[in-house]
Amino acid sequence: MITINENFMKLKAGYLFPEISRRVAAYQKENPQVRIIRLGIGDVTLPLPAAVIEAFHKAVAEMAEAKTFKGYGPEQGYDFLIQAVIENDFRLRGVELKANEVFISDGSKCDTGNIQEIFGLENTIAVTDPVYPVYVDTNVMAGRTGPQNSQGCYEGIVYLPCTPANQFTPEPPREPVDLIYLCYPNNPTGAVATKEALGRWVEYARANKAIILFDAAYEAFITDAAIPHSIYEIPGAKEVAIEFRSYSKTAGFTGTRCAYAVVPQELHAYTRAGEKVAVNPIWHRRQTTKFNGVSYPVQRATEAAYSAAGKRQVRALVDYYMENARIIRTSMEQFGYCVYGGVNAPYIWVKTPNGTNSWEYFDMLLKEAHVVSTPGAGFGPAGEGFLRLSAFGQKENVLEAMDRIGKLA
Ligand code: MLT
Repeated sequence: MITINENFMKLKAGYLFPEISRRVAAYQKENPQVRIIRLGIGDVTLPLPAAVIEAFHKAVAEMAEAKTFKGYGPEQGYDFLIQAVIENDFRLRGVELKANEVFISDGSKCDTGNIQEIFGLENTIAVTDPVYPVYVDTNVMAGRTGPQNSQGCYEGIVYLPCTPANQFTPEPPREPVDLIYLCYPNNPTGAVATKEALGRWVEYARANKAIILFDAAYEAFITDAAIPHSIYEIPGAKEVAIEFRSYSKTAGFTGTRCAYAVVPQELHAYTRAGEKVAVNPIWHRRQTTKFNGVSYPVQRATEAAYSAAGKRQVRALVDYYMENARIIRTSMEQFGYCVYGGVNAPYIWVKTPNGTNSWEYFDMLLKEAHVVSTPGAGFGPAGEGFLRLSAFGQKENVLEAMDRIGKLA
């Protein structure tokens, strides 16, 4: 008899964003005349930058000629892209990386979801709460948790509540944990971590022989010069942290797919017997076995995001979305909402008024303003009572959404 992985049955609801799409589609079907504006999932709406498109076309043309055609590429990524990453994303910020520490991939959702499988099932996981659901759900699927309790927490996971009182940036826990997921700038709250705050995490991880999984998918949206873009800006972090970066939101790659993970040579985990094991070769072994790399045209297109023109065009995309963030933040404030984020991040975290729960407020905004948001509760128990608005819409839609929400007040 074939048995199923029963860990999947511990997952309480469908994955958050398909669940939202399902509700929106059902509402649209009943109300076909309504024009819905989507500020829910963080999906970009502007086309790829011209420099990226040009390189993409050129690389596709290479695939059409026997002389320049490429078959399987290196699983870890082409050297031309790895060198561009090292030079632009790290060396310019004073961080040195080796080529074999960068692993090009098809997305940070996949990377942050897959990475847990190289760590033992007995590890204790800590997540900030609210949190990007992939970190929790993939650990549930792997069997690293018990069932969900009545508060919406999975047994065995240490939840670190992010609240206005701690500026959505919790301190390391008192108890020892093994694997810590941090995302800064934060999805969903839009909060950032200072050098000092990240320093305390690095110190904690070193003291507890823990590893930090640092999701920096939104680093390009940082506007405050004092905020670190990479955890490796913190001394000693290479010994305790893996960093994830994505081109999805920065260069408009949500549909094109390219990202990378940095797994430093200095990073170690341990066998049950306490023997030190380098993590980099284990991730390399995993990737070369289960992943055949990102397509050549996509890697060439990504490389072009680092050209002089590419950088300017990427900056223009980021600025466009951050102007949306400003419009959403200031409009919502004017309407009397209590609003967080949206300054160093493309997400605005809004307190639902009068203690209304997130899904009720989500439904109200959908039905009364025809605006899609993301209910905070979908990101974890501490997200209850909040909504997330994404700044990735087109400006005219953002303005109209604000106009509609303003009229509800
Ligand atoms: C989000 O809206 O939180 C993101 O778009 C989800 C993702 O990047 O996978």
